[in-house]
Amino acid sequence: MRKIYLFDTTLRDGEQSPGVNLNTKEKLEIAHQLERLGIDRMEAGFPAASPGDLAAVNAVAKAVKNATVVGLARSRVQDIDAAYEALKDAQDPCLHLFLASSPIHRQHKLRMTKEQMLEAAEAAIKYAGKYFTKIQFSPEDAGRTELDFLCQVTEMAIKAGATVVNIPDTVGYLYPAEFGNIFKTLKEQVPGIEKIQLSAHCHDDLGMATANALAAVLNGADQVEGTINGIGERAGNTALEEVAMALETRQDFFQAKSTMVLSEIARSSRLVSKLTGMVVPGNKAIVGANAFAHESGIHQDGMLKEKTTYEIMSPETIGLKESKLVLGKHSGRHAFREKLIDLGYELTDEQLNIAFSKFKDLADKKKEVSDEDIRAFIEEKIVDTTEVFSLQTIYVAYGNEATPTAKVRIVTHDGDVLEQEAEGNGSVDAIYNAIDKATGEEVVLSDYSIKSVTHGKDAQGEVHVVMNQDEIMVSGRGVSTDILEASARAYVDALNRLIEKRQLNSGSRRDKIGLV
Ligand code: KIV
Ligand code: ZN
Repeated sequence: MRKIYLFDTTLRDGEQSPGVNLNTKEKLEIAHQLERLGIDRMEAGFPAASPGDLAAVNAVAKAVKNATVVGLARSRVQDIDAAYEALKDAQDPCLHLFLASSPIHRQHKLRMTKEQMLEAAEAAIKYAGKYFTKIQFSPEDAGRTELDFLCQVTEMAIKAGATVVNIPDTVGYLYPAEFGNIFKTLKEQVPGIEKIQLSAHCHDDLGMATANALAAVLNGADQVEGTINGIGERAGNTALEEVAMALETRQDFFQAKSTMVLSEIARSSRLVSKLTGMVVPGNKAIVGANAFAHESGIHQDGMLKEKTTYEIMSPETIGLKESKLVLGKHSGRHAFREKLIDLGYELTDEQLNIAFSKFKDLADKKKEVSDEDIRAFIEEKIVDTTEVFSLQTIYVAYGNEATPTAKVRIVTHDGDVLEQEAEGNGSVDAIYNAIDKATGEEVVLSDYSIKSVTHGKDAQGEVHVVMNQDEIMVSGRGVSTDILEASARAYVDALNRLIEKRQLNSGSRRDKIGLV
């Protein structure tokens, strides 16, 4: 059976989703989870974008041992140098170079003729050959490139030394038959095509990203690029979990397989959703909350008689399992540790102590502590000594005929205590005004959302906020049984990220020109 390589770009194209900003620690957490998931190649970022991006790619490059670590670069010397700097410590580094090839991009963005585009790309690939043995080249907007010119570009890339040629449908424009035909044509017409791997990179603007990637597989693609949960620029990228499950479920048809560890899918999806703040829609294929839920009476009846009547995949395959061990306030450390192992968490003793005391606090407030409750607080930061602000207390006075007021107490990293009181046109607004006064930060809140982690009146609430300060956009997350406390925690979390990002980006030259 043919192996299809999986190239994950959650940390690069995924991070380009509006409002998403992952710091180095979060990128590392996702990178380790991608290793557990069995991803072959992971794109850790775009090192030339900013010193912060370079440092994050370097941290991932040093930490990852079981996958190729890839860095993106425009076809420019300074980008390639930055990528080399970021990737030089990787066990198995790969450079991902791109230059647009479509007439629209050549004419309006690059102002290059076909010949100039070929020359610039060739020079970049050859220059990169000094540093890298693995080079992937992407003719950006390949989907809208003249097919004969795309053959020429691919031939040039092979001769110049690329090891993978990636075909991006950058704007999600093509229909599966058209996208598949590109691969068929390249395979049939490009001399030397057998020396390299062909890859598919699709966007979901017309909802066809996964279908297009699979059409490429059927027509000879060796690699599929995508992200967890399909996050990414605009409507997102191909969702890798969908590709892996399609190959698994329809092996009879595709005659190809990936080496994704399927039982890690649910956990990878949750982690990416939590760290990016991008909620997975309930009806999302494979990882949506309803993907394995059966509502209609006829379906339920069928399921009870024979699961395969309405279920083509089982929830257990992607790592969803119902736990028998329910914890409550009488549960001890041993049961708690067993539960963590069952849920797949490995904590240090120090982290276990903190987690156990958080669990006891929660168990005092809730009769039964569910797996989701535990995941919510374990996956929140257990220890983070780098935070500038930490929320100590909040008091809110609310009456429907009075102006809401809030008082907050925040302790800084240096031990200073900041206390302030403020009014607002709602309780959350009052809390946020008080935090602004206490911290002296001026920000614009651009998004606020709240969801319950579990069911019932005593469910924990999870708040997600997105805020801007000048050019910087960050998100934050907070979890608590009280939604006002969760709101305050999310806001303080975002402020801490804002400060970190401001420091990392000072002197940055993050420009995304030409990067889609
Ligand atoms: O969509 C695209 O064209 C890209 C390239 C950088 C591969 O993300
Ligand atoms: Zn893309």
